[in-house]
Amino acid sequence: MKKTGIIGAMEEEVNQLKNIMEGVSSRKKAGMEFLEGTLEGRPCVVVRSGIGKVNGAVCTQILIDDYSVDLVVNTGVAGSLKAEINIGDMVISSDALQHDVDATGFGYDFGVIPRMETSVFQTEESLTALAVKVCKEVNPDIGVFPGRVVSGDQFISGREKKIWITEHFHGLCTEMEGGAIAQAAHLNNTPFLIIRAISDKADDSAHMDYGAFEAKAIEHTVKLVKALITAL
Ligand code: ADE
Repeated sequence: MKKTGIIGAMEEEVNQLKNIMEGVSSRKKAGMEFLEGTLEGRPCVVVRSGIGKVNGAVCTQILIDDYSVDLVVNTGVAGSLKAEINIGDMVISSDALQHDVDATGFGYDFGVIPRMETSVFQTEESLTALAVKVCKEVNPDIGVFPGRVVSGDQFISGREKKIWITEHFHGLCTEMEGGAIAQAAHLNNTPFLIIRAISDKADDSAHMDYGAFEAKAIEHTVKLVKALITAL
């Protein structure tokens, strides 16, 4: 049976998954607590990586080296880069890249990692399709959008930067770990999937009730993870 590593960004989300896991054993490494057990009878390891690309990449490498996971799933929140993708909707990765990679001084385009064969890391098409199908089934009231996740060590909260990112990378949402998790998974020939609930519009617009949003986002994400893990 496949073993899935689940990197959650939110403490509450990891706690909810932990509460429904069985046979849990816990171990700390690199300041992260890895919870190994079963979810819906399927082997999995749940961990909160902490924020940012380095945390995401280190966490992914540990899941692969120490737990031999067959798939890395990253959940969390993100800023929308598209007018039609609203707060509460979900983005499911088709691919991921890093908007803050800048070797333009060497003649590379923005986002291109020098001397790598690719800087755009692909989720397996069948995995994206499965996650979208399952997500629509278990969360019928929200928008579900397959597409590109654009990551960087920056919280995007300005119109100008948002427009720059959108024009250069054509992503659906922006966050701070997915692209690095994708790169680490790619380097290890391990499939990955990023699932992000939209928490904001990545600009200086409307504030929201984060508490109410967070509870809903966690509910949607936990439902999806549980259903996906049994559908794999
Ligand atoms: N995570 C949630 N919203 C984000 C944003 N606007 N920029 C980066 N990461 C985010």
